[in-house]
Formats: sequence, structure tokens, C-alpha cells
Amino acid sequence: MVSVLSPSKKNISLCADLIRSGKLVVFPTETVYGLGANAFLPDSVEKIFVAKRRPKKNPTIVHVSSWKMLSLVIGRSVSKKEKRFLSRFWPGPLTVLFLRSPRIPDIVTAGLPTVAVRWPSNRIARQLISMANVPVAAPSANPSSKPSPTLSRHVKKMKGVSAILDGGPSVFGIESTVLDLENQVVLRPGPVGISELKPWLPDVRFHASLVSDARPKKVASPGMRYKHYSPACKITVVTGFGKKLASFFNGLPRSVPVICSSNVAKNVSGRVVFSFSSASDLGKRLFAFFHALDDAKIKRAVVQGVPERGIGFSVMNRLKKAASKRLTVS
Ligand code: TXA
Ligand code: MG
Repeated sequence: MVSVLSPSKKNISLCADLIRSGKLVVFPTETVYGLGANAFLPDSVEKIFVAKRRPKKNPTIVHVSSWKMLSLVIGRSVSKKEKRFLSRFWPGPLTVLFLRSPRIPDIVTAGLPTVAVRWPSNRIARQLISMANVPVAAPSANPSSKPSPTLSRHVKKMKGVSAILDGGPSVFGIESTVLDLENQVVLRPGPVGISELKPWLPDVRFHASLVSDARPKKVASPGMRYKHYSPACKITVVTGFGKKLASFFNGLPRSVPVICSSNVAKNVSGRVVFSFSSASDLGKRLFAFFHALDDAKIKRAVVQGVPERGIGFSVMNRLKKAASKRLTVS
């Protein structure tokens, strides 16, 4: 049994030593929990791919906690202009692509010339990386294709994990925004929205594959090729309004739980109802709902969609990928 550790200085330091020496540690971030390894050690990063059963073609994000560490990862100093832009979003839930240093092993970037880097804001994550004093390669700490963990207890049995640091519930609950800075393209929508990036990057836009429902010929980032965020429970996303939506939910078999806005929830009865207060609240709790449905072995559930604006766009990106069916009630 892997130990779940409280985030005391002593335990963080112990986990930092584990990472330095090539072991795997699960740690909290403000987005989701990460499965971390020393990014300079290819054999350690390899363990991440084995533990998650992650395709080797899907590169991982590298986490840093200082400008000095970023320059080690990119093999050059960080310019004043870059620092001005990055300081607006870092530490925080934005991942940025850079050309990589030859010190970063191929397995981290899946052989790509670029490396995805993030400086997380979570205090425990920052202390862990600083104490380890090495950049930390870390995808989300879930088996490939399953929902990301937003609580330490969501981290299911994974081979080769030495410790789990418990940091309570993730603040955002969905993974970081991934930005191709050079081309001003958002490859994965996340907590940092286009409108926040616009003042800095006037031409910034979503990758075409994110704004079209058609199956894209070319994917934005390697990870988007793969099935994602999917609980075993079959999810239907339902969009619609007020009373009509409530009566649709009331007409479903009683065994089908409903995840809907608190407004609609007032008129839904006779079944398990999880309610959310806003799109960002749904984002924060979506994966926890999925884990709860799977833990209770629920076969089918419905989730009310949210308007695809701001954070709602990122939340719907996850929800649509997790869903096996979409319906509109009008
Ligand atoms: O919030 C997060 O980003 C979490 C926490 C732990 O930091 N991490 C996370 O990592 O979600 P992961 O590996 O599950 O997702 C990384 C995404 C994948 O879609 C991957 O394909 C993409 O970033 N990516 C990584 N390196 C890339 C690169 N060089 N070029 C394009 N996409 C890249
Ligand atoms: Mg992931």
C-alpha cells in the first residue's frame, strides 16, 4: 500500500528526495494531481509511462519553480520580454511550449523539439520542486484515458508510485491551459482563457480542432489524439433550459443520477442529484463526480452542459470528451 502523506515540511522533503533519486511521487497542484518524476532521468520518466499505461507518443509537462530551473529546461536564459508575459500567469495554470534543452530526455517530449513547461502555484507543488531542485515531469496522476484525480483518494492503484502527498481538493479541477506561444495557439483549453491571453497575444486563438466538432485531420497536441477523461459510467451531456430540462431529468429512470445546476436541481426529484453553482464550480468538481459515479458502480448518468464561454468552454471540452452521447432539450 502506498503511503498517503500529509504535506508537512518533513514529508515534502522526503518526497523531494524520492523524486531526486528517481522515484515516482503523486503531488497536488492547483489544477489536478500530478504523477511526478525527475525530468532529467529518462529511466524515471519511463516509469510514469508504465504506471499510467500512457502511449509513448504523448509527451509530459515539465514543472519548474524558478526562472533558473526554466532556463535549465530550455537550455538558455529567459528573456525580459518572456519574463514579463510569464509573470502575469506564473505561478499558475498555464503550460507554455519552448524549444527544449538537450538535457531534457527524448522520452519527456516524445522526441518533439519542444518541451511543455509549467510553474504551478500550489504551495506544496512549489516546495516539492524547489526541494528536489530538479524539474519535475508530471502528467495527471490517472491511468491513461481515465478522469484526472482532484483528491488524493482518486489516485487509484498505480504500479511504481513511492508516495502520495495529500493537498486536499484541487482549486481548478481541470488541467492547465496549454499554449503554443510562438504561434499564439491554445492547444488545450484550461483555467486560463483566451480573453486573459489576448492583451498579451493579440492574435491568440484556439486550435482549429477545438472549435470544430468534426474529427480533426491534424491534432493540436499529441495528447488530444487519445481518449480522455472517461469514467466507466456512460455519460450523456444534456443542454437546455429551466423547467423543460428539469422535466426531462424527472422522466429518466430513477437509477440515473443527474448532475445539474442548482437552479434546475430545485425541480428535480426522486433520484441522486449532484448540483453545481456555476461553470467554474462544475469544472472544479466534474472529475470528483466521475470518480464518485465509478466508485458507486453507476452505469449511466446525465450531466447538464454549460454555456461554452470563458471557463465554460474548457469545462465543456472535458465533458464532451468524457460523454458517449449529447442531447439538446428544447
Ligand atoms: O494541469 C496540468 O497540466 C496537469 C498538472 C499535473 O500539471 N498535467 C497534465 O499533464 O495535465 P498531461 O500530461 O496529462 O497533459 C499534458 C498535455 C498533453 O495533452 C500533451 O500532449 C501536451 O500537454 N503536451 C506536452 N508536451 C507537448 C509538446 N511538446 N507539444 C504539444 N503538446 C504537448
Ligand atoms: Mg492527463
